[in-house]
Amino acid sequence: MKSILSVTVNGRRREDAIPDNLLLIDYLRDGLGLTGTKQGCDGGECGACTVLVDDEPRLACSTLALQVQGRRVETIEGLAGDGDLTPLQRAFQDKLGTECGFCTPGMILAAEALLRRNPHPGREEIKQALSGNLCRCAGHAQIVAAVETAAESRKNETA
Ligand code: FES
Repeated sequence: MKSILSVTVNGRRREDAIPDNLLLIDYLRDGLGLTGTKQGCDGGECGACTVLVDDEPRLACSTLALQVQGRRVETIEGLAGDGDLTPLQRAFQDKLGTECGFCTPGMILAAEALLRRNPHPGREEIKQALSGNLCRCAGHAQIVAAVETAAESRKNETA
């Protein structure tokens, strides 16, 4: 069976007829070509498929597309709307938090969600917020450092 999904993806309102059992990750990757959302374990374990739904991190591999009906979805492609890297993305680059890059979109979106609800998190809060996102290169220390740097630069901007 098909239904109409009305959703905002990266700031653009969409209406698409989709199968009721279509997963959000397949809608984004195959339907919209947003392949920055990575498919890792496909079972809710690795966090590679993390996207933002109304500013909160959500595993796209464990979410039906119809569950985001009427909501606002952001993928890594939508984060830097004007084409420039965001300060958080730059911090990942500068602190070598990207390693092989596979986990990076999910990591960045999980960190972005944290920084939106708490612009000045401590190290433990950062670790907690990223605890559902695995880095196969074991680059967690650089990733935490990148989020700390981004939080610091936000603090300086607002000072
Ligand atoms: Fe979704 Fe691993 S692909 S949690």
